[in-house]
Amino acid sequence: MESKIENQKSKINIAVLVSGDGSNFEAIACAVKNGAIPQAEVKLMVANKPGVGSLDRAQRLGIESMVLQAKDFPDRSAYFARMNEEFKKRDIRLVCLAGFLIKVEPSLLISFPGRILNIHPALLPKYGGQGMYGRYVHEAVIKAGEKESGCTVHLIDDEYDKGRIVKQARVPVLPDDTPDTLAARVLEQEHKLYPEVVRQMVSFLLSQK
Ligand code: GRF
Repeated sequence: MESKIENQKSKINIAVLVSGDGSNFEAIACAVKNGAIPQAEVKLMVANKPGVGSLDRAQRLGIESMVLQAKDFPDRSAYFARMNEEFKKRDIRLVCLAGFLIKVEPSLLISFPGRILNIHPALLPKYGGQGMYGRYVHEAVIKAGEKESGCTVHLIDDEYDKGRIVKQARVPVLPDDTPDTLAARVLEQEHKLYPEVVRQMVSFLLSQK
């Protein structure tokens, strides 16, 4: 009995924030469920709008989800304060942004120092910053004639896509690539890279306890 309680205490609860399809959310959740990320639990998925595919994924995976829309709050700081309350209720220790398109406010950064990860579909520091998301990233990479692209998992700080890079994966850019074909090749790598970084982060956080 005692060891069961001990076991529960040594789990890292994760929250994933999304704005869209949620395929990276699913990759992390599945890695936790199939034991590739031991001693962790995806406790909550927060979407910033209703009707997005990630909500269906959460339901299918049996993971609690909620929609928090910024427009329902007086300002961004109230929005993130509410999010923080929800995190506290669930003892969240690690936050993963996975296609979440709202800039995180300092209040959340202060509550989770070095514990908010993001994934970006390019090799940062190139092709990052405001307005560089989704299709725009892959269009810019192709337009610039890059031979290589990829994805980056990084820590969040108060500037878009500027936090410390944790790990990257690379893919070739092929001569006949369109933004869609390149996006698909990058996304395949994202689904491997993000769970791997979360696994490392969970084990680091457990070692800090
Ligand atoms: C991914 O390409 C990620 O790099 C970017 O947004 C996209 C989210 O895709 N930040 P999904 O919602 O996880 O399928």
